[in-house]
Amino acid sequence: MSPAKKIIIAIDGYASTGKSTLAKSLAGKLGYGYIDTGAMYRATTLFFQRHKVDFDDLAAIQKSIYSIKIQFRPSEFGNRTFLNGEDVEEEIRTMKVSEKVSEVAAIPLVRRSMVAQQQEMGTERGIVMDGRDIGTVVFRDAELKLFLTANPMVRLKRRFDELTAKGHQINEEEVKHNLEHRDHIDSTRDDSPLRKAEDAIELDNSELTPEEQLEIALRYAKQRIGSN
Ligand code: DC
Repeated sequence: MSPAKKIIIAIDGYASTGKSTLAKSLAGKLGYGYIDTGAMYRATTLFFQRHKVDFDDLAAIQKSIYSIKIQFRPSEFGNRTFLNGEDVEEEIRTMKVSEKVSEVAAIPLVRRSMVAQQQEMGTERGIVMDGRDIGTVVFRDAELKLFLTANPMVRLKRRFDELTAKGHQINEEEVKHNLEHRDHIDSTRDDSPLRKAEDAIELDNSELTPEEQLEIALRYAKQRIGSN
């Protein structure tokens, strides 16, 4: 019997539309790797903040970008993000990083480096990757592309609950402003703005439980895996 065909599943969408929840569980069910590309832009932002790299200083960015090594390592609680060997999973989720990450993700030099690393991670297929440009730029040939949406109130509540559950001290207004600000920059930047790929399936999960959403996505994935 020939081994099962391995595909690439690209999941894109605005901030807090449940991309990572779906991507993680889908990867778990299929025995695939999961890559959170947002974490890569977050780790890069943290590096720039720590090393006081000015986001307008292209020479400094060019100089430091190749010394940024990002890895994902599995743990009991899911993947953790490592920046040059240091576990930065908690730090990259703070508001300090969230406030600046869209600015960093709009820099073409940064995107070029991240996209190259992401393409490298997918050479053997068998991965679920979530982000903003996975179906449009990183893996235009992904066998399954999902574009997630949810209404703004649902997204705000999810993000707020997620942050407070982790012990972050924030108010709802701050979270709302950050989501709107990032969506605006992410979808209006010149370099690979967030948009739905023509061949992506749009999934509004405002009224879906994570289990229902997973079931729908799994059905699509199995169709694609079975159709070789
Ligand atoms: O998924 P996230 O919210 O952790 O992503 C953080 C930021 O990184 C987001 O505001 C936009 C950017 N991003 C991007 O530009 N391209 C990606 N593939 C993933 C994230």
